[in-house]
Amino acid sequence: MRPLPSFVVSVVALPAIVAAVHHVNPHEARQALPGSFTLTGSGSSISGSLSTTPATTGPIVSGTSTSTGVSVPGSVATIPPALPTTYSFSLEATNPTAVPLSSIVLNAPSAPTSPLASTPPSGAVPTYLSNAPPLPNVLTLNPANYPPLDKVPPTDTSEVQQWIADVQNSGVEIPNIQPTVAGGCPANPQAATDPTRCWWTCGGCTRKSDITDCPTHMEWGLTYDDGPAYYTTQLLSYLDQVQLKSTFFVVGSRVISFPSILQAEYLDQHQIAIHTWSHPPLTTLTNEQIIAELGWSKKAIKDVLGVTPNMMRPPYGDIDDRVRAISIAMGLQPVMWSRISPAATFDTGDFDIHSGITVVSQVLQNWENIIGNASTRSTGFIVLEHDLFQQTVEVATGYILPDAIAHQFTIKPVITCLNRTMADAYIELNDNKTNPPLIAQSGVVTLTATPSSVIQATSNSHNGSSASIQNAPGLALAVMTAVVGFIVGAATVF
Ligand SMILES: *[C@@H]1O[C@H](CO)[C@@H](O)[C@H](O)[C@H]1NC(C)=O
Ligand SMILES: *[C@@H]1O[C@H](CO)[C@@H](O)[C@H](O)[C@H]1NC(C)=O
Ligand SMILES: *[C@@H]1O[C@H](CO)[C@@H](O)[C@H](O)[C@H]1NC(C)=O
Ligand SMILES: *[C@@H]1O[C@H](CO)[C@@H](O)[C@H](O)[C@H]1NC(C)=O
Ligand SMILES: [Zn+2]
Repeated sequence: MRPLPSFVVSVVALPAIVAAVHHVNPHEARQALPGSFTLTGSGSSISGSLSTTPATTGPIVSGTSTSTGVSVPGSVATIPPALPTTYSFSLEATNPTAVPLSSIVLNAPSAPTSPLASTPPSGAVPTYLSNAPPLPNVLTLNPANYPPLDKVPPTDTSEVQQWIADVQNSGVEIPNIQPTVAGGCPANPQAATDPTRCWWTCGGCTRKSDITDCPTHMEWGLTYDDGPAYYTTQLLSYLDQVQLKSTFFVVGSRVISFPSILQAEYLDQHQIAIHTWSHPPLTTLTNEQIIAELGWSKKAIKDVLGVTPNMMRPPYGDIDDRVRAISIAMGLQPVMWSRISPAATFDTGDFDIHSGITVVSQVLQNWENIIGNASTRSTGFIVLEHDLFQQTVEVATGYILPDAIAHQFTIKPVITCLNRTMADAYIELNDNKTNPPLIAQSGVVTLTATPSSVIQATSNSHNGSSASIQNAPGLALAVMTAVVGFIVGAATVF
């Protein structure tokens, strides 16, 4: 098996729902600090609080642990410097077989991976979908027929040239917006404060085209990003055990590495959706590169499943009107995650445990804030989580999902919470009636922005430090409308 790539961490990522990580240097983060973590509780309910001492200097030190709990052993957390010093959370339920929190850390020793319960046989037909084709044989999948893994694919190949022509002929006008430069909002002060670009990264602008929430109160559109990967099988077996279905936003390169896992997700009635080929921040790419990223992902998934998803999530949530228009032209509807303010999104922060930028206690505190906000909002919600790393799967299956079930959220894939059928999630199976593709909607796609504020482009959100968020009423838009018109036969701006 190929090693997993080390993804760029937190590029243009927004701070998680609670206190953002302050100026964490990934190298410094390897130093542990003394800390103690106390868990108390009875039955399956736990609550915890974590105290650490601020950073000093010196080598890795291990802390002391105190345990008074009955269901979860106390633990020593490995804390990077300058994180908030206290975390608190309480969980109504945990998984009796959860990995202890003390083990869900930076540099955790690898737990064994579990094989798939059964390898999907080629030719199997997903009977829950009418008219679905039989599964292709993954043994014939040849990685040499795809671009190099984890790199933006070249745009001069015949496949990409064809997809570029398809976009040009789609009738969707691609706005003439310059790509951003790497570095997120601070590196792009003009773009960050330009409401006509509607750049989600800097303030959370969305359009009517974007799915951001589930419509119904207490419904959670469950999503996992960045797989398939080594620990995805563990997540799948837990989801089977508790009879939950999810949406998986998969990376095309990972699909080529783990095709059988993708087939198992699909046969298990999870929704498969697109998360690009190599996971770049899409607003930094040229139109042709964005088309290559989405096109190769669509092709990889179709080659493995026989069908093509029609939803996409931009890596890091990095989307603006140019990326939206290209996605729509390629038949892909953007799916974000819920946001409660310009600064706060429903991001568990689970991705950053693996690199030591955050700790599992922070993630559980984020989770507690998410469910608090989710319970009181009028609509349902969507949360950012990942199946890429051991740590993210362990916190999901051990803590977050059992707690969510105890809180009686109704947990569904995104397509299902939108009251559509699973067949509606795939281009070839969608009947285009109850779920017309955006591109087909009445000749014009009207993109309406939600009220928005803009992140003050003075601080850095590129390397894990906290962005200073400020409401900018002058830039807040009650309604902003951009029209992606049909310019039949006209050349689009590239
Ligand atoms: C983060 O980015 C800022 C601005 O680009 C830079 O000054 C700072 O040194 C960076 N910090 C780390 C830890 O890389
Ligand atoms: C909602 O989230 C915010 C953090 O953004 C947090 O301070 C607040 O306590 C949460 N509300 C509830 C009811 O949990
Ligand atoms: C969901 O869709 C079904 C059939 O398409 C419809 O009868 C029902 O009213 C819808 N429910 C909601 C909450 O929209
Ligand atoms: C729905 O439209 C897509 C193109 O967007 C097409 O490929 C598909 O065949 C259509 N489905 C049906 C049932 O006509
Ligand atoms: Zn991702």
